[in-house]
Amino acid sequence: MNIQTQVSLAPYTTFGIGGNAEFFVEVRSVEELKEAVLWAKEKGISVTVLGGGSNVLVSDRGVTGLVICNKIEGITYEDEMVHVGAGVVFDDLVLETVEKGLWGLENLSAIPGTVGAAPIQNIGAYGVEVSSVIESVHTSHLTDGSERVFSNKACAFGYRDSFFKTEEGRNYIVTGVTFHLKKEGDPHIEYKDLQNYFIDTPTQRQVRDAVIEIRSKKFPDWHKKGTGGSFFKNPIISKEQYEVLEKKYPELPGFPVGDRVKVPLGWILDKVLHIKGVTNERGTVGTYEGQALVIVNHGGATAEEVDAFAQKIAEDVFGITDIRIEREVRSI
Ligand code: EPU
Repeated sequence: MNIQTQVSLAPYTTFGIGGNAEFFVEVRSVEELKEAVLWAKEKGISVTVLGGGSNVLVSDRGVTGLVICNKIEGITYEDEMVHVGAGVVFDDLVLETVEKGLWGLENLSAIPGTVGAAPIQNIGAYGVEVSSVIESVHTSHLTDGSERVFSNKACAFGYRDSFFKTEEGRNYIVTGVTFHLKKEGDPHIEYKDLQNYFIDTPTQRQVRDAVIEIRSKKFPDWHKKGTGGSFFKNPIISKEQYEVLEKKYPELPGFPVGDRVKVPLGWILDKVLHIKGVTNERGTVGTYEGQALVIVNHGGATAEEVDAFAQKIAEDVFGITDIRIEREVRSI
């Protein structure tokens, strides 16, 4: 175990932002993870876990205690079950399962981040949420490294939400995920962008390729431009509130979720607030020109600037629509 001190976290995040970790270690197995956790316990310092760093905004002041970078690798197949280490790059897994003809992950192509992060915020795209193919989630406890497996039900998945986001759930470090994929599958192309794409029933490979192409138009390439993807969740509002807004903005899309309505915040930012592609005064932070819900680092942005920019958006949205929005990106 190689514990380093004062390691800059910016290169470990897709935003490319963040100060130093007081202590930093990369772990490659459940045993190494336990060793690291016990080391921090003995020193009496806090533990923060980083996966692909694609959904986090790390403070400019850095992180005290031990930051563990989860690099637990490995993909093993057992009929339709796939056991995957938390440190595997999520899209590498998608590609491999598509090549093997195992259905279920193709709509989630080209999402940044690691497998371990996927269940925490229940990543989703193009009509599919990862919770629909998760069999179980393997974890180690933050305080002593003890192992526990959560069934799909025990994960309490919701829209960009799970047990692992709760106060209690934050004590569990995801070490691996077991997926239940399907040898015989059907394409899910109900999502508008995908529907418009095909005339005949597509193959799994064609779905993946289409998703990659659609995404490339809407999202910046995170290898080239700092971003955390959608910065906020899409708000889920009451029917009454939706009807009030719909009168004012007849084109406002809305998707029923139980007796409530999910509205695309990207649409509101673009068509109501007209802030697609705008930047802060210094030109360091902005909304992406292809998708207003995505906040980008145009170069040299600080976490404080991103915070202030996002805060202003949230206030403006509330001022105009009366909707309180919630961040999807986690601040560390
Ligand atoms: N829209 C605009 N202008 C914009 C952005 C969006 O008019 O600037 C409109 C679109 O035309 C569409 C609607 O708003 O009618 C929804 O937009 P889109 O299909 O791009 O999806 P989204 O709701 O903004 C969600 C997820 C994405 C996911 C896409 C595709 C959330 C917070 N975001 O975005 O996930 O890739 O759907 O399925 O749920 C992420 O979570 O980080 C993320 C990127």
